[in-house]
Amino acid sequence: DPAASFVDTLPKAELHVHLEGTLEPEDMFAFAARNDVDLPWASPDELRAAYSYTGLDRFLELYYRGCTVLRRRADFHELTAAYLRRAAAQGVRRAEMFVSPQSFLDAGVPVADQLGGVLDAIAEARTDTGIDGALLVIAQRHRSEAEALELLEVLAPHRESLLGVGLGGAERGNPPSRFARFFADARRRGYRLTCHAGEEGPPEYVREALDCGVERIDHGYTAAGDPALVARLRDEGVPLTMCPLSNLRLRVTDDLSTYPIAALHDAGVVVTVNSDDPPYFGGYVADNYRALGLPHPTLAALARNGFTASFADDATVAAGR
Ligand code: ADE
Ligand code: ZN
Repeated sequence: DPAASFVDTLPKAELHVHLEGTLEPEDMFAFAARNDVDLPWASPDELRAAYSYTGLDRFLELYYRGCTVLRRRADFHELTAAYLRRAAAQGVRRAEMFVSPQSFLDAGVPVADQLGGVLDAIAEARTDTGIDGALLVIAQRHRSEAEALELLEVLAPHRESLLGVGLGGAERGNPPSRFARFFADARRRGYRLTCHAGEEGPPEYVREALDCGVERIDHGYTAAGDPALVARLRDEGVPLTMCPLSNLRLRVTDDLSTYPIAALHDAGVVVTVNSDDPPYFGGYVADNYRALGLPHPTLAALARNGFTASFADDATVAAGR
């Protein structure tokens, strides 16, 4: 398939991937066994059979259950190393990855173990494959803003190792405006800012994220139906990190043939292609490019957008483009 090799060799930046969401079923069972954690599925295949969701909430339930197998520094290390190996093999040169420490903190996993494992793997992968990895921390929006502010305090000793912070989790009913002080405090500390918005939530949530000073919108799907907001995203140059297979599996969209990424691109918005939680949604980043069914020049333009939208320094961005 010539399209397959075209996408695989295209230099790509992945800007929206949750490390916990890269946990392959076999690895989840291996971690569960060595950490003595119970899972509600009897086997990796039974878990795969449960990868069918009516929406974000049902997915998150399953996803958070899977997260319970990650207990030790070595788990975070191996998880990250495995993702970066797969990403490099798919032509990813730059990966800006999310991790969400709050549920692991609740489970008693020190933040230094979580971040230390991830950061060691990033450094090793840079040597092994040349992939340029970076880490952003996500606060869970179903929790309070006070907890998000507390997270910033917990992260303070690691500030220089982290690229940015964002907001993830159950979107409806948890608007970005509820986290205005979190974003302001994070900016003051020097973090780059992203926010999941417009996945299941209304365009208004995307506006609120922009009003909070967010520099990149994760998803932004529902913004496509709001021409004034599309114009604002274009004028302010705020990129969208879109995730086609995620949106399909979570029933945000029911048909990728009408996926708005090409229309947003034509409208002048910096749109990018990403995987979100690859095994859970049936594909890594190259699979997401292929699923769009767009002509090669358009796919190449979207791939270049990934470097434009990245928070990498200018040299890295130039190398990717
Ligand atoms: N965390 C992991 N995947 C997510 C998604 N698609 N939306 C919100 N939070 C998430
Ligand atoms: Zn996401």
